[in-house]
Amino acid sequence: MKILVTGGAGYIGSTVCSALEDRGHTPVVLDSFVTGRREFARKRTLYEGDIGDRDLTSRIFEEHPTIECAIHCAALIVVPDSVARPYDYYVNNVSKSLELFRNLETNGCRRVVFSSSAAVYGNVQDFMVREDSSLGPSSPYARSKVMGESVLSDMCSATQLQGISLRYFNPIGADPAMRSGPHAADISHVLGKLVEVASGREPVFRITGAEWPTRDGTGIRDYIHIWDLASAHVSAVERFDDAFDTASTGDSHLVINLGTGRGVTVNELVAAFEKEIGRTIPKQEAPPRPGDVAGVYANADVAMRLIGWKAELTIEQAISDALKWNQVRTSMLGDQ
Ligand SMILES: NC(=O)c1ccc[n+]([C@@H]2O[C@H](COP(=O)([O-])OP(=O)(O)OC[C@H]3O[C@@H](n4cnc5c(N)ncnc54)[C@H](O)[C@@H]3O)[C@@H](O)[C@H]2O)c1
Repeated sequence: MKILVTGGAGYIGSTVCSALEDRGHTPVVLDSFVTGRREFARKRTLYEGDIGDRDLTSRIFEEHPTIECAIHCAALIVVPDSVARPYDYYVNNVSKSLELFRNLETNGCRRVVFSSSAAVYGNVQDFMVREDSSLGPSSPYARSKVMGESVLSDMCSATQLQGISLRYFNPIGADPAMRSGPHAADISHVLGKLVEVASGREPVFRITGAEWPTRDGTGIRDYIHIWDLASAHVSAVERFDDAFDTASTGDSHLVINLGTGRGVTVNELVAAFEKEIGRTIPKQEAPPRPGDVAGVYANADVAMRLIGWKAELTIEQAISDALKWNQVRTSMLGDQ
C-alpha cells in the first residue's frame, strides 16, 4: 500500500515509515523540516513543504495516484513553547491540519490516521484512562490536539473522509534497527534526561514532583516503545476499514489509545534504567514544574479490539535501545 506520511522526517513519523517499509508498504513523506531531520527522510520519496500547501498536496496525489491513506504526524510538539507561542501552535496544528484534511478529501484520499496525544486527558482518580474518559488538556499544545481531533471528526461527518485519531501515551526508545530516534537538541523527555546524566553530559537527574498521590509519590506515565507505537500505525492502516466495521458505531471517526496499559512511576523508570546500566546515577527530588501533572496510563483494550494491536516490547528494551541510539545519534545527526 502507498501511504502519505506527513511529518515523516520527525521522531515518530520516520519510525512509522520504517515500520511501514518493513511490512512491504511504501511511505511518501511530506515534511517542511521545521523540526525534522533530512537524515531520517533519505532514501524515501520526499516532498519538502508545508501540510497547508494545497498545490503541493495536489501535486503529490497527481504523481502518486495510488496513495490509499494518509498518516498525519506533522505538528509542533513542545509544551512550554506552545505556552509562549500559542498562535503558531494553533495555526500549525489546527488550521493547517484542517487545510490538509480538505485537500486530502479533494484529492480522493479518504482514510486519515491522526497523531493525537494522551495529553488531551484530564486528571482521573485511578490514573487509568479510556477513550471516553473526560478531557482536560492543560496547554495550548494539548488543546491543539483536542481541536485537531474535533476538526477531523467534523470533516469526517460532512465528507467522504474517515479518520482514526491515535492517542499516543509516552513514546520512548528508538527504532531497534537504529534508523531513527529522538533528535531534538534540547532533550526534555525523561528517558533522554536519564541518558544525559548516565553519559555525564548532565550532572544530576531531577525527579520533578515526589508528592503526587501515586504509589511512590512520583509521577506516573505509560511509557511505550517507539517501535510498538510505529507498529500500531501499520495495524491501523492495514485494518482501517475493518476497524470501522468492528466498531459498528456508525461514526466515521474513531479514537484509539496507544499505550501499554501499564502505569510506571518515575522512580520505577529510574530503577529500571539503573538496573540496565548496572550502576546508580546522581538524582535529586525537586518541586513539580509549572503545568506538571500526576499523569495517566492507558486502558488499551480498544486498540486490541479495533486494530488487533497491543504493545509487545518491554521498558528494558526501550531503555536499551535508547542507550544504543545515544551511541549512534551523534555520528548520524552531528552535534546539532
Ligand atoms: N513525541 C511525543 O512524545 C508525542 C506524544 C504524543 C503525540 N505526539 C504527536 O506525534 C506527532 C509526531 O511527533 P514527533 O515526536 O515525531 O515530533 P517531531 O518534531 O520529531 O516531528 C514532527 C515533524 O513534523 C514536521 N512538521 C511540523 N509542522 C509541519 C508543517 N506545517 N508542514 C510540514 N511538516 C511539518 C517537522 O518538520 C517534523 O519532521 C505529533 O503530531 C505529536 O503531536 C508526540
